[in-house]
Amino acid sequence: MSNASDSGRPFDLARMPDPAWLHELAPEGTRLDLADAEHAGAADDWIRERYRAPRADWVRMNMLGSLNGRVTGPDGTSDSLSNRADRRILRLIREMSDVVVVGANTVREERHTSTRPTWLCVITTSGDLTGHRIRPDDAAHSVLVCGPASARERALETMPGANFVEFELDDGGVALPEVLGHLRERGLRQIVVEGGKALISQFLDEGLLDEVCITQAPYFGPDAAPALPASTRETRFRRELLLADEYGYLYQRLVADGA
Ligand SMILES: NC(=O)c1ccc[n+]([C@@H]2O[C@H](COP(=O)([O-])OP(=O)(O)OC[C@H]3O[C@@H](n4cnc5c(N)ncnc54)[C@H](OP(=O)(O)O)[C@@H]3O)[C@@H](O)[C@H]2O)c1
Repeated sequence: MSNASDSGRPFDLARMPDPAWLHELAPEGTRLDLADAEHAGAADDWIRERYRAPRADWVRMNMLGSLNGRVTGPDGTSDSLSNRADRRILRLIREMSDVVVVGANTVREERHTSTRPTWLCVITTSGDLTGHRIRPDDAAHSVLVCGPASARERALETMPGANFVEFELDDGGVALPEVLGHLRERGLRQIVVEGGKALISQFLDEGLLDEVCITQAPYFGPDAAPALPASTRETRFRRELLLADEYGYLYQRLVADGA
C-alpha cells in the first residue's frame, strides 16, 4: 500500500480515522414485509419515518450504484440495476420532496418521466432535453428548466410546456447555490438531487449536500457504464440508516458532518 494520496502528496497517517469498534450488522433489526399489499400504507409509513428530513431546508442526493460504482445496467439506464424496493424508496423520497433536481444528461439518457406533483428541476447549458417522456401538461405544471438565455429556445422545443428560468453562466455553468436559492424562493425547500455524476460531483465539491441516500446493487457493472459522483472535497458523512433486502441490495442514508 502506498503512503501517498491521489494528489501525490504524502498522507499524514496521524489523520487516518481510527474506529474504536466493529459492529456486526446481524439481522436482529425490524423486518418490514414489503409483499403484504393489505398493509402497504403502513409499510410506506415505516419507510417515510426512516427517511424523513430533520429540517425544513434540506438537500439530499439519492442514487443507485453497482458494487463497482456503476450507475446503469445493461439497458443503459438505472432501471435494469434497480429493483422494486429501491423504486419504492425512490418514490417515497420523491413524494416527501418539493423538487427533484437532475442534470440534462439524466433526462436524456434515463428517458425521464414526470415526477408530478413533485417538481422536476433540470439543469442545462444546451437546452437539449430530447428523449424524455414528459407530456406538455405535466411539464407546464411541474418542470423548471434552469439554464442560460441561449438554452431557452432549444429547451422549449425539446420539452414543450416546461417553465424556463434564466441564469447567468458562471465558469461555463449555472451557479448551483443560485439555483437552490431560486427553488427556496418558490417554496421548494425539500430538495432531492438524483443525478447524474456530473451534476452531483459539483454539489459535493461545493458542500451543498446535507445527506446522501445510496442504494448498492449486488452486481458488478461494465467499466464503460457511467459512474457514481466524485469529489475533491473531504466531506465526511455519518451513517444514519442501513437497510438490506432479500436480494442483497443495501440502502444507506448518510448525513454530512455539520448538517
Ligand atoms: N443510478 C442512478 O441512480 C442514476 C441517476 C441519475 C442518472 N443516472 C445515469 O447517469 C448518467 C447521466 O449522468 P451524467 O454525469 O452523464 O450527466 P448529468 O449530471 O445527468 O447531466 C450533465 C449535464 O447537466 C448539465 N449541467 C450539469 N451541471 C451544470 C451546471 N452547473 N450548469 C448548467 N448545466 C449543467 C449539462 O447539460 P447540457 O449537456 O444540456 O448542457 C451537462 O452536460 C446517465 O447514464 C443516467 O442514466 C443514474
